[in-house]
Amino acid sequence: MTPTIDTLPQTADIAPLPTIDGGFQTVLADPPWRFANRTGKVAPEHRRLDRYGTMDLEEIKALPVGDVTAKNAHLYLWVPNALLLEGIDVLQAWGFRYVSNVIWAKRRKDGGPDGRGVGFYFRNVTEPILFGVKGSMRTLAPARSTVNMIETRKREHSRKPDEQYDLIESCSPGPYLEMFARYARPGWTAWGNESDAEVEPKGRSHRGYAGGAIETFPSLEPNERLSPWLSDRLARILVEEYEAGASIDQLANESGYSIQRVRSLLEAGGVTLRGRGRPKKATAESAPVKKVAVKKQPAKKAAPRKATTKRSN
Ligand SMILES: C[S@@+](CC[C@H](N)C(=O)[O-])C[C@H]1O[C@@H](n2cnc3c(N)ncnc32)[C@H](O)[C@@H]1O
Repeated sequence: MTPTIDTLPQTADIAPLPTIDGGFQTVLADPPWRFANRTGKVAPEHRRLDRYGTMDLEEIKALPVGDVTAKNAHLYLWVPNALLLEGIDVLQAWGFRYVSNVIWAKRRKDGGPDGRGVGFYFRNVTEPILFGVKGSMRTLAPARSTVNMIETRKREHSRKPDEQYDLIESCSPGPYLEMFARYARPGWTAWGNESDAEVEPKGRSHRGYAGGAIETFPSLEPNERLSPWLSDRLARILVEEYEAGASIDQLANESGYSIQRVRSLLEAGGVTLRGRGRPKKATAESAPVKKVAVKKQPAKKAAPRKATTKRSN
């Protein structure tokens, strides 16, 4: 058989992993998994889609993650549903033991499941992040009230939700390393062949870029305590609508939350509350131009460092 691009062996061009004094305490990794059926349309490197180069299982396992992490560390590892066993294999090869997972539930704008996913047996609307521990280290206190699910809308091909960072930063300590990063996160060390600011990630030029938070409110018990992550997310949605002219009463009606809950979420979102009275209409004159500062976790992170490799694909 004449070799074609799909049958030629590929070896990834792999740059050294970054290091930091004492080692990274938390690693987030979203590897370019190579699927067995590389001619299938779902394979990331499919020629027609030209997304990004992939690595085989042995190459991923051989990455010296154990050497650049602290004695006690957390790992968040994205893995496609079909490659769950390979994911656990990688997690263990990097020196971690599997303890739990966080599920990303992909939602439509109205909050329903986003059934545009692919899948041979089922249409996938979820994607797991395997959570592993090296040595011994509990999650930070807010994790105990953080649910292991992220519900947001999809963005461009293989792009993961930014809400992952809020969840990780509130549940696991820095210094933080993101492997196979495409968009550097402030306070994190990014490594990956598309992580340079001047590199335009390939996925972005393809159709389907949308994303953003889902625009419905989860139902809450009257005195339910919110995790920092959920409170931050709800605050962002409420602030956006408040700044567009909605009143606190309207927001309470729409969300089903008490006036008091809406007020405190708006305050947590950093917005200056308007005086009582008729709700302002969002007009060019009335809509504030100020961008809302969303409250973040206290800065306890390593200075951003970046290691990049030359683009191999
Ligand atoms: C699944 S994507 C990561 C998506 C990213 N987490 C996001 O949310 O946008 C995998 C990334 O690994 C990169 N990659 C592929 N081969 C690589 C290699 N040999 N070394 C470093 N990065 C590589 C790809 O270019 C791609 O950016």
